[in-house]
Amino acid sequence: MIVTRRLDAGIPDDVVTAADILRGGGVVALPTETVYGLAADASNGEAVRRIFTIKGRPRNHPLIVHVADVSFAEHLASDWTPAADVLARRFWPGPLSILVDKNENVPDDVTGGRPSVVVRIPAVDATVRLLRILHEMGSIGVAAPSANKFGAVSPTTAAHVIEDLGGLVDAVLDGGRCTVGVESTIVDCRSDQAVLLREGGITFEQIVDELGIHELNVVRSLDLEGSDDSSRAVAPGMLTSHYAPRARVEVFERDDELSRRHRQLEVMGIRCVLLPHPSDITEYSRDLYASMRSCDSPETDVILALLPEPKGLGAAVRDRLRKAAAPR
Ligand code: TXA
Ligand code: MG
Repeated sequence: MIVTRRLDAGIPDDVVTAADILRGGGVVALPTETVYGLAADASNGEAVRRIFTIKGRPRNHPLIVHVADVSFAEHLASDWTPAADVLARRFWPGPLSILVDKNENVPDDVTGGRPSVVVRIPAVDATVRLLRILHEMGSIGVAAPSANKFGAVSPTTAAHVIEDLGGLVDAVLDGGRCTVGVESTIVDCRSDQAVLLREGGITFEQIVDELGIHELNVVRSLDLEGSDDSSRAVAPGMLTSHYAPRARVEVFERDDELSRRHRQLEVMGIRCVLLPHPSDITEYSRDLYASMRSCDSPETDVILALLPEPKGLGAAVRDRLRKAAAPR
């Protein structure tokens, strides 16, 4: 066990301290607008390997590299494509991660030996300032998966990080509650037909519109399954069961189905709770993981959840709920 320092993203000296810890090979949980990330200096192989040990994550699962501006992202790519450039300039800083072919600047530990790298600029000022400090010290950026144990629910507050990883990480930079609440959208931009690998804070519709202006297009990876291009449909680490609390999760398309199941389980003496489902999808997304955590008490056997409509941010919320409900 180590003592996890609590740092405040609102205090400039604390941001510098967090950067120093990272530069010294430490591991620090950082706030982003999506979820908290478990960060290490991406230039330091040993620090990056610590992330996998702390999370209990298989070493071949690649990590996202977070950078402070577009030029640092380009610096990691062997081919910074038109699709990558269009999306980066429109949506960064923001909840969008871009997959491109990597170059020799990216160590293999970060990408699990893959020839590609995923990059993004997070939309939290303190974190971008920290990234700038690290770049000035010669770092390519920070590698950061979500700051939870492998397969568990992602953290959206510093308190969640402490619950899961207190005593395992060197510090947590507290930036308050994450505003988006689900992980970033991941888009494979290696060709003029981009592929959406993970639904997230930037919606499929927004990506279609932006690429359309530039005569580029995007498909969902699911829609490639069974096609000639099916190899691009595989996204490592996007396991079917994921984001799962301890209690079993059941999901429903309609309110009446949910109520019927609720009554049925109660008759059987099974202890259920309903996951709150705000009608405002931004709120549903922002509070999703915090709600899952608070529903997941030892007194709960089953969490019942209503799926939002599959449009806009609803697609990401549905994806996370269905993964939480998948067989383990
Ligand atoms: O919002 C987010 O994306 C958060 C914050 C911290 O930035 N990060 C996050 O990281 O969700 P993680 O590691 O939990 O999820 C990243 C996903 C994984 O499924 C991983 O397999 C995929 O991105 N990924 C990363 N690099 C990849 C690569 N080179 N090729 C294919 N998939 C990649
Ligand atoms: Mg994760």
